[in-house]
Amino acid sequence: MTVINVEKGDITNTPADALVLNLFEGVASPEGGTGAIDKLLGGTISELIKDKELSGKLGETTLIHSLGKIPAKRILVMGLGKREQFSTSTVRTIAGHAARYLRNIGVKNAISITHGAGIGQLDTKDSAQAIAEGVLLGLYEFKNYQTKKTKTSEGKQLESFILIEQDEGRISALKEGIARGVTVSASAQLARDLVNEPANVVNPVKMAQVASSMAKEAGLPIEILGREDLMQNQMGAMLAVSAGTANEPQLIIMEYLGDPDNPDNNIALVGKGITFDSGGISIKPSANMWEMKGDMSGGASVIGAMKGISQLKPKINVYGVVPAVENMPSGTAQRPGDIIRSMNGKTIEVDNTDAEGRLILADAITYIRHVKNVNRVVDIATLTGAIVIALGHVASGVMGTSQTLVDAVIAASKTTDEKMWQLPLFDEYKKQNHSDYADVKNTGGRPAGSITAALFIGEFTEGVEWAHLDIAGTFLAEKTTGHLVRGASGVPTRTLIQLVEDLAKTAP
Ligand code: BES
Ligand code: MN
Ligand code: ZN
Repeated sequence: MTVINVEKGDITNTPADALVLNLFEGVASPEGGTGAIDKLLGGTISELIKDKELSGKLGETTLIHSLGKIPAKRILVMGLGKREQFSTSTVRTIAGHAARYLRNIGVKNAISITHGAGIGQLDTKDSAQAIAEGVLLGLYEFKNYQTKKTKTSEGKQLESFILIEQDEGRISALKEGIARGVTVSASAQLARDLVNEPANVVNPVKMAQVASSMAKEAGLPIEILGREDLMQNQMGAMLAVSAGTANEPQLIIMEYLGDPDNPDNNIALVGKGITFDSGGISIKPSANMWEMKGDMSGGASVIGAMKGISQLKPKINVYGVVPAVENMPSGTAQRPGDIIRSMNGKTIEVDNTDAEGRLILADAITYIRHVKNVNRVVDIATLTGAIVIALGHVASGVMGTSQTLVDAVIAASKTTDEKMWQLPLFDEYKKQNHSDYADVKNTGGRPAGSITAALFIGEFTEGVEWAHLDIAGTFLAEKTTGHLVRGASGVPTRTLIQLVEDLAKTAP
């Protein structure tokens, strides 16, 4: 893994394989660190700008060999884009691009300025955190199964990325930012790994094992319920989804007690853990069905977040709950038309066995409410194809009955730049979940499919503050860009950690 650190020094006289600088779009003569280096190079950077070979466009990479004019062998000028649009998100993005670029040309030891901090446009700590996230998440690779060494995985490794800072007074803020960045990145990487792993490896029992080793390492209590326990608790909805598979279902409950004296200062994060969603008897078409190995992304983000939370130690009690189940068709599977009884006593008509996420979440939420008396619930689920139609692959959907909690989720997502957008839960939509035979039906038809899915879950959250995240459009990244690498995105692990920290800070 790439070591990220800060050293007191001066970029003009620090040796390295490469030095990372930056440039805003439209700047004719560079200032700050980039300006200082430009002078020592005899104006090479200004000349490149004048010749329009360097524009400062966001993500632009320009490599210059210093030929002994400074101790750093190469200079990589990163385009920051327009000054007005510059933010920590820009820093995270360009750090990802820079790290991949340097790794791919074989650079081992890089040094860098802290983007935006010197000119006072960003908080020093926030910039350092964003750099650490961009570098670590941007260099992420999932190569567990490729037996031939591929271009970037072996041999070429960026070993260190060091921020060089002249001002002693800023070193501690930089260190703190880097430490936070390393922690949240490792949490998101854990989530990405779980999602990228195939479903023949990550089944419910394996998911519980991964959660257990994380919890053990983090010193978190963990409880795992198997089929027998689910039967004892009359969790009919979770059992119905697991009826068709040979893989035993698991209900994973992780505990972080950061405010043990105030048990009411709590929140439950409940993540959908369908380790494979074939659709069941209402089987899905084959095209892209492989993506359903990632139908446990919500659960993976909860396991990842609990890891980060255990390290950052916010003053709040957090329950991480993951119902892990495989949804398969077979002679023992549930059928469309079946009527099942959920843990809270409500009966459900299973109109479509492919609407399974809401079923397992119903029982998981009931369980944690009953057992731990939680007063806030955020559930996270790759719940509906309809959210992809509504928001594409750009933003996750947010819904909920507590506007305060919804607002907190959205605020946290703005800090992390994991984009989210709220959809309404108007009462008028509820009738779509009406069943002629049971208390509620598990489908609401095509119109507003993400909303009726959320409203179904809302049938099991009465009395608690509740927000719901539909991540069906955001759990995978289509292409490698910035801190994202094609494959599992790790969304919304970073936001869950941020949310918990924000809630801890605003606790009464
Ligand atoms: N896991 C799927 C939703 C999904 C779709 C996730 C695409 C990621 C990408 C979910 O279990 C599902 O099948 N939902 C159905 C519900 C319908 C049957 C009411 C859907 O959205 O089609
Ligand atoms: Mn489904
Ligand atoms: Zn599903």
